[in-house]
This record gives sequence, structure tokens and C-alpha cells, in this order.
Amino acid sequence: MKFFVDTADIEEIKTLADTGLLDGVTTNPSLIKQSGRDFIEVITEICSITNGDVSAEVIALDFDGMMKEAEKLAAIASNVVIKLPLTFDGLKACKKLSVDNVKTNVTLCFSAAQALLAGKAGATYISPFVGRLDDIAFDGLQLIEDIVTIYSQYPDIDTQVLVASIRNPIHLTESAKMGADVATIPPKVIHQLFKHPLTDKGLETFLADWEQTNQTILA
Ligand code: E4P
Repeated sequence: MKFFVDTADIEEIKTLADTGLLDGVTTNPSLIKQSGRDFIEVITEICSITNGDVSAEVIALDFDGMMKEAEKLAAIASNVVIKLPLTFDGLKACKKLSVDNVKTNVTLCFSAAQALLAGKAGATYISPFVGRLDDIAFDGLQLIEDIVTIYSQYPDIDTQVLVASIRNPIHLTESAKMGADVATIPPKVIHQLFKHPLTDKGLETFLADWEQTNQTILA
């Protein structure tokens, strides 16, 4: 499973990229707002940190506007992925960009039918939002299972399932069990993945015992 980080925070991206465990980055207009920085500058900087796919979202709602914005964003770097909303015009733009061999991430997906449309439109990635469905008392993980099942019936669909709006490690591990291709994870949740109280406790005991051996590894 590929791990993307869902942030426009450059320092977080650098820290996570240094682990060698990061496969890409997703951004959205709200994350750009949080960064307080210029959109084009931030995407350019992120693309200089990672060779992985970096999603940059269009703002236009009409096909022509989306295509113009996509052209500008795609020119930033070869690893820019054009993020498009799951609307009529968004999928029309997705189809055109996929024919032109431009990578796309169709975002704001909340139903299996929408995901099927994105697959037909040749999306590189479909982003179903698990957490936002849970927030309104729908089962977000069930949507992931449905999409993975549907896509697996049709070998001609090569759209990757990118699990989005992840709020906790369980969203991630359950999606991985279902065979989702990618997860885009907020930095806070990525840091949570490393932690377990028994790891901390075990390490404390090992170090206390080691101390009593009076040895050093590097003499
Ligand atoms: C996905 O690409 C979105 O940026 C993101 O996962 C949305 O998450 P949120 O529901 O926590 O805002």
C-alpha cells in the first residue's frame, strides 16, 4: 500500500520524506489556506522534496476553466497530479486529461456509483472520503470495500483507490485489509502509526537491563 501525506506543511513533508516511507502528497484548497502560502509556490516546493505524486486541486467548476488550470498546474513538475472534483465537468476534464496522459485524482467521492464513473473516465486515482462519511453516520469503510470490490470485477479499470479523509489508524488498517491501493494520511495520524505503549514499555525495560550489563556497543 502506498502512503501519501495529506498536508501542505513543508516541514512535515520534509520530515516524513526523510524516513523513506512517503510515496506522495495530497493537498486541497483548505490545506493551502492553512499553510498561509501561495498555492503555486507550495506545490513547486513540495515537488522539489518528493518524486512521488503530488495532487494539486483545480478551483474552476467548468470544463474549460478546469482544463486551463490543469495545464498551468501540470507544467509545475512531472509529478503533479491534477485533482478534480467529482462533478459532471470534473469527470469530463478527467477523461480528456487521461487521454492526454495527464495523471488525475478525482476527489470528493462519496458513493460507489461516483467511483465507477471516475473509473470509466480513466482517473489515475479515486479519492473516497471515509471520515466525512463517518461524520454523518454513514459507514465510510463500507464505501472503500464496495469500490475495491467493484473495480476488481473490471480489469479494464486501472484507477487506484486512494483512501482519503482518514481520521485514525483503524481507517488505514481496515482499508489495507480490503486491498486499497493508497492512503492519504494526515501527519498526526502517520505519527500515531509508529506508536504502541508496549513498544515504549519494552524499550524502557531493555534499556534498564542493558545499563546493568555495564557494556557499550561502540567501545
Ligand atoms: C483528500 O485528498 C483530502 O485532502 C482529505 O483527505 C480530506 O480530509 P478531511 O475530511 O480530513 O478534510
